[in-house]
Amino acid sequence: MAAVAELNPSSPCKRPALCSSLKCSYALSRHYNRRSLFLRPAPVSRGSKIYCSVTSNEIQAPVAVKIDDPKKKAECYGVFCLTYDLKALASGEVFGPNQPIALKLLGSQRSIQALEGVAMELEDSLFPLLREVSIGIDPYEVFQDAEWALLIGAKPRGPGMERAGLLDINGQIFAEQGKALNAVASRNVQVIVVGNPCNTNALICLKNAPNIPAKNFHALTRLDENRAKCQLALKAGVFYDKVSNVTIWGNHSTTQVPDFLNAKIDGLPVKEVVKDTKWLEEEFTEKVQKRGGVLIQKWGRSSAASTSVSILDAIRSLVTPTPEGDWFSSGVYTTGNPYSIAEDIVFSMPCRSKGDGDYELVKDVVFDDYLWSRIKKTEAELLAEKKCVAHLTGEGVAVCDLPGDTMLPGEM
Ligand code: LMR
Repeated sequence: MAAVAELNPSSPCKRPALCSSLKCSYALSRHYNRRSLFLRPAPVSRGSKIYCSVTSNEIQAPVAVKIDDPKKKAECYGVFCLTYDLKALASGEVFGPNQPIALKLLGSQRSIQALEGVAMELEDSLFPLLREVSIGIDPYEVFQDAEWALLIGAKPRGPGMERAGLLDINGQIFAEQGKALNAVASRNVQVIVVGNPCNTNALICLKNAPNIPAKNFHALTRLDENRAKCQLALKAGVFYDKVSNVTIWGNHSTTQVPDFLNAKIDGLPVKEVVKDTKWLEEEFTEKVQKRGGVLIQKWGRSSAASTSVSILDAIRSLVTPTPEGDWFSSGVYTTGNPYSIAEDIVFSMPCRSKGDGDYELVKDVVFDDYLWSRIKKTEAELLAEKKCVAHLTGEGVAVCDLPGDTMLPGEM
């Protein structure tokens, strides 16, 4: 197996606001590429732990940097882009201690030096399971036989840019990557789209990859789930591992719906533990919806470490059996969903996995008026985004009439 990272000037790093003009994405395959760095065996690194209630001065500063001048050499590329994911993937924390991997990093002409630097770092880390690192700038080469593709790169909204423009620019990146995956990746490649707006980017990607099952495409909402768990744990005064069954419904945007109706704390319905409904409906919900933006306001950059951890969590959730009675959130293709959510969009819903990379949607969830009305709002937003990218999904002419309050978490 291997992972790919993409760094190029036309589609910058991850979600908007992490790096203003730097792009990166990741994928995984079993096949080795021409430009390989072979790595020597070394002890397996220890798993990392994170805690909900760290304060900002306990968080390791990200190496991410905004690069406004495309000619300016990148000073650094961010823990999210280059360190956390690759390290945890390479160390066996995600795929287990017996699974060797090959990392394939997709970049651009401009970022090739940086990619070489990353490859050197990986080489010097002596990860015992990392058998190959290869880099390239052509997705048709780099995605060859990929088994996992982590698509991080997306352009942030620039000054004066309409959201429709943002959807279009990013959509083009994901349309191209979808085509490349369709042409050369493993027929069962699992794709995790992180670059924002990730739900609609994932939709574009899957529409451009008709030979890959639509079910294999995920938009990352695990970060939102982790944020919701953290807030519920803090409110209830328990450690976050006591919080389970948390669904994020809908879009990775400020309309997302953190579901406290079905969630549990210590096996009990949240509403039996946290009796303050006003807090749940207002403060908790808004905190989770806007967490990404608040974080950016505080330290000037988009979430990095927590996003990385959540990507790893998202992969882990698909490659290990979901604990009995629990579930995880992922933005997945809605066609055939049991909740009557509009078909043919990518919507975050509760999933369970047997650990084989596949998932099924959880049926035994309940809805009340509050939850359902909010689900309809985030659904409307995604349907509007879909119309806006019709030219990229092969569905005709785009008509962009987005709800006024459509925002990414980082755009507040
Ligand atoms: C987040 O939720 O932290 C990011 O999606 C925010 C952003 O736009 O980078």
